[in-house]
Amino acid sequence: MEKLKLHTPDLTAQNIDKLAQLFPNCVTEARDEQGCVTQSIDFDQLRQELSDSIVEGPRERYHLDWPGKREAILTANAPIAKTLRPYRAESEDFDTTKNLFIEGDNLDALKLLQETYLGKVKLIYIDPPYNTTEDFIYEDDFSENNQAYLLRSNQEDESGNRLVANTEANGRFHSDWMTMMYPRLKLARTFLKDDGCIYISIDDRELHNLRKMCDEIFGESNFVATFAWEKRTNRENRKSISSRFDNIICYCRDKSQIRSAIRQLGMTDKALANYKNPDNDPRGLWKSDPATAQAGHGTKDQFYTLEAPNGKQHELESGRCWLYTEIVMKAAITDGRIWFGKDGNGVPRIKTYLDAKDRGLVPETIWFAEDVATNEIAKNQLKELFDGKSVFDTPKPVDLIRRMIELSTNPDSIVLDFFAGAAVTAHATLSLNASDGGNRQFILVQLAEACPESSEAYKSGYLTISDIAKDRIRRCGKLITNGSIEQEAASQSSLEFESQRMLDTGFRVLKIDTSNMRDVYYAPDAVEQGSLLAQVDNIRPNRTAEDLLFHVLVDQGVDLALPIAEETISGKKVFFVDGNALAACFDDGITDELVKEIAKRQPLKAVFRDANYGSDSVKINVDQIFRLLSPETEVRSL
Ligand SMILES: C[S@@+](CC[C@H](N)C(=O)[O-])C[C@H]1O[C@@H](n2cnc3c(N)ncnc32)[C@H](O)[C@@H]1O
Repeated sequence: MEKLKLHTPDLTAQNIDKLAQLFPNCVTEARDEQGCVTQSIDFDQLRQELSDSIVEGPRERYHLDWPGKREAILTANAPIAKTLRPYRAESEDFDTTKNLFIEGDNLDALKLLQETYLGKVKLIYIDPPYNTTEDFIYEDDFSENNQAYLLRSNQEDESGNRLVANTEANGRFHSDWMTMMYPRLKLARTFLKDDGCIYISIDDRELHNLRKMCDEIFGESNFVATFAWEKRTNRENRKSISSRFDNIICYCRDKSQIRSAIRQLGMTDKALANYKNPDNDPRGLWKSDPATAQAGHGTKDQFYTLEAPNGKQHELESGRCWLYTEIVMKAAITDGRIWFGKDGNGVPRIKTYLDAKDRGLVPETIWFAEDVATNEIAKNQLKELFDGKSVFDTPKPVDLIRRMIELSTNPDSIVLDFFAGAAVTAHATLSLNASDGGNRQFILVQLAEACPESSEAYKSGYLTISDIAKDRIRRCGKLITNGSIEQEAASQSSLEFESQRMLDTGFRVLKIDTSNMRDVYYAPDAVEQGSLLAQVDNIRPNRTAEDLLFHVLVDQGVDLALPIAEETISGKKVFFVDGNALAACFDDGITDELVKEIAKRQPLKAVFRDANYGSDSVKINVDQIFRLLSPETEVRSL
């Protein structure tokens, strides 16, 4: 029976596999630093394969480098032996919700979630620390090799206490920030669907470094835009410059899918008001746009004198050409698609029709405060939600994130935010679902960063930022289900309103913790003969059956948001995930009878604990029973 692997994927090993597929002759076996023989790449051989295209040594090249980049790559690739533990009491609608709230360091979270959500996320929004001189940034754990990293990751109980102040006096001010961001972005990319997008808020301090990192990770050709968000509308009384906008950089996973990666915005009333029909055109409402373009864009067929239906000759302005060639323009005039003003003497303009089905607004690179709100509005909205208490200093406006979700998701998409702060992304997702009847799921990750004792948050009973985030989701969820988004509800049909009432405002809280397994389990070489008996029960003492279930889900890449049912069969507790996607029993004294009952349900996967079989014969019979009753089931042991 196969054992669960119980650690996150080793991305270095996956990279070796990819190279092996391309260059099988470059794969060899060599001893590592510990003297163990492992699969390795023969670099000399690879160099020969790539011959002229290799840049090495002191040769000049265009590339991004900083002290710490090597560790950042190592950190991204190294596996960890941690787990996600469910917290029912802090969750809402634990059994049925599809939304996840992960508490802990986002690098760990991305590694733990990677297998499950690989290529499944439509939109990632992040709002990382901007690296102002007052910011705290997370200090990752570096080590010389993957195995040491893996062991260390299972030995610490810490969660939110590795945040360190990053001041300019630190000689590695920019480097430390980049070293923190790089592995997280690298992992984030693997979550995106082919038509997925990532949006990142940043100010001018690290914009250039972030762009360079993203060019390297997502590919320069997948850069979409830097949006300028008007974050304030009044002038700040600063020494030199008052900053009015923040940047939001956007990359897509694959630019060839840009049409579904970034949609058009819905028509606003202001935009609709431009569509009229003064000539009773049977094609309906239209607006007019200039019929000329910059001369540099035209071919020689686009330079001519245009004759209006009333015979008036229209010459081109200097530096312009007609948008259409003469033949196409004449056909458009005959078809009534060119507008010459009410009296027929006006400058020719091209009609653009309001096709109700697919006409939208192309998003622009400037996002105005009147459309997506400001920092101040965000603070006030949050304050109002928390009964007048100012519990979080740097919230983004709900409408700002809602715009990204409108642009880049479908009604059933997954939205991920791994610098969640006060959970604005959850609020925006719920708010959009409420107004368009969508079922978008959110996954948020937030460190249990302590609130300072002097803060209003602490005085209001919130010990950590993740506590604020969880309460934000509860509060906005209630607001939405209570129908307090009156205008939205009022403007919907009763059918839409019905779907709104079934809105999933719950969330499952999972916290990152050390593995459920004892440390030494992962390093069989380190187990001495005399201590073997101590390993028989390989589970840490305070872990529950539900902890083990989530460990299995992470290990097997099963969706962590699937419904879970508990049944008692032959006197033992058995979990069924999403009907029969997975069945698991971690109780002591497993009998043949129980195994048979589970096998009859024909689950896709079945998991038991090695140490819990009632006898050796039951352990031997498990494979046999499944082969007979449910040959398709993958049986695993913990
Ligand atoms: C600028 S705030 C995000 C605010 C959020 N957009 C909002 O409007 O509520 C950044 C958040 O990232 C969190 N954070 C920083 N490093 C983290 C890490 N390594 N893992 C998880 N969260 C982290 C911080 O605690 C902080 O709350």
